[in-house]
Amino acid sequence: MKTNTIQNLDNFSGTILIPVFETYEKSIVPISFNGLEIPAKVFYGKKDTHYAVEQNNAIYLFIGLGEKIDYKSLKTVFRSVSSKQKDKLNTNIALVLPEQFDDNQVEAIVSGLFLGTYDLGHFKSDKKIHPFLESDFVLNLFSEKDYLPTIKKGIKIAKAQLEIYNLVDLPPNNVTPKYLAKWAQETGKKYGFDVEVLDFEASKKAKLGAFLAVGKGSENEPQFVIMNYTPKENVAKIKHIGLVGKGITFDTGGLNIKTSGMLHMKCDMAGGAAVFGAMQLIADLQLPVKVTAIVPCAENSVDAKSFVPSDVIHSYSGHSIEIIDTDAEGRLVLADGLSYLITNYKPEYIIDIATLTGSSVGTFGYECAALFTNNDEISKKLQESGDEIGERLWPLPLWEAYKSDIESDIADVKNYSGKPVAGAISAAKFLEYFTQEHPAWAHLDIAGVAFGDDEFAKSKHATAYGVHLLTKFIENL
Ligand code: BES
Ligand code: ZN
Ligand code: ZN
Repeated sequence: MKTNTIQNLDNFSGTILIPVFETYEKSIVPISFNGLEIPAKVFYGKKDTHYAVEQNNAIYLFIGLGEKIDYKSLKTVFRSVSSKQKDKLNTNIALVLPEQFDDNQVEAIVSGLFLGTYDLGHFKSDKKIHPFLESDFVLNLFSEKDYLPTIKKGIKIAKAQLEIYNLVDLPPNNVTPKYLAKWAQETGKKYGFDVEVLDFEASKKAKLGAFLAVGKGSENEPQFVIMNYTPKENVAKIKHIGLVGKGITFDTGGLNIKTSGMLHMKCDMAGGAAVFGAMQLIADLQLPVKVTAIVPCAENSVDAKSFVPSDVIHSYSGHSIEIIDTDAEGRLVLADGLSYLITNYKPEYIIDIATLTGSSVGTFGYECAALFTNNDEISKKLQESGDEIGERLWPLPLWEAYKSDIESDIADVKNYSGKPVAGAISAAKFLEYFTQEHPAWAHLDIAGVAFGDDEFAKSKHATAYGVHLLTKFIENL
């Protein structure tokens, strides 16, 4: 694929995409472009409407944006054009970008166009290739301003998000812990970050007891993935960020087997996938930061070797954990991920991200992730980053009063209060226990936002929530 800037459209043959802000329905001034005039009664830029005209060898596709539009909606409008108007698209596209667009808007448009190439039908026999993915595809920018760097960034964001759509949507008999570890190794090689993988034996030697308690009950060997990124160029006073993502490739609940919602549990590695996607994007953008990221990958399965309720296990931190419920497995693998990160790498900032609790879905639904942190700077920066790109989050408390929820009689802590209340908060308190009072730690519970319904498919599918959010947060630090 190629990107070009063009100055005139007179002899252009291909499809010309023209975003249009809403004018007045009864306006007597037509929308005019390159000699074409569209009367307002036919098209006046209302959101989710378009109008196509053929002239000479070109299709002019006018795209309504409404009066004003936020980042996420703009991205969705263009994803929709790209995925649903395929009959009007081809391998030569001109994108008209009026000067009134800012860089963020252009980034959203381009990301949306490329996300529209996503095909959920991974295993369908009659797959058609999207014109934007053909090798001769050219994206021509028709604009007074130089948007090329922004376009390139928009494409990189979409590329990382598309990878994560794949990882989350592919079924658990494909995406095993080993599949994820291999993906990380290959992506690290391609984009420039180091990857180390601890298999079952290496994890045992390292004493990752909480991680292995979850992973040992599966035919699919658990893999503890450690990634390190440093920019190619020397940066004075470089910031070091640590990321940890929940990589449960399928959550049956374990012996406390799930009685509802199991069908969707291939999404239980979406936090890990967000971390993988962020690593690809951070390296692709060559951000001037140091990042250490850990994704404990395991399947929570039902087996004679599975851990059982009332087991006491021994975590990497040295603290013992009483298992109240084997379905509260995410916090166990994250506990070892966090301890391993802090003990061995001591990052300045730490963010963990996980599809951790049904309780966070009960609280915020499908629109917003739950944010837990005692650090006001991080809280503000994460929320601002999320608002900019439409990946929203909202804080919940980590008050001392909730500590009793995880106090055990037999061990240092227990993995579940046993009560059906404040589930997202007690899970966060459990994680906090393993952060060694780190002053700049935040936890994101993304159970409601990682996998959802939208206009692009009949069933729930990946949103890639977190890939852009984590990257944007790190950029804004
Ligand atoms: N993977 C689930 C949480 C989840 C719920 C993810 C909905 C995505 C959508 C997690 O491991 C889990 O099972 N949590 C239990 C914990 C409980 C047993 C303490 C929950 O939230 O019900
Ligand atoms: Zn679970
Ligand atoms: Zn889970």
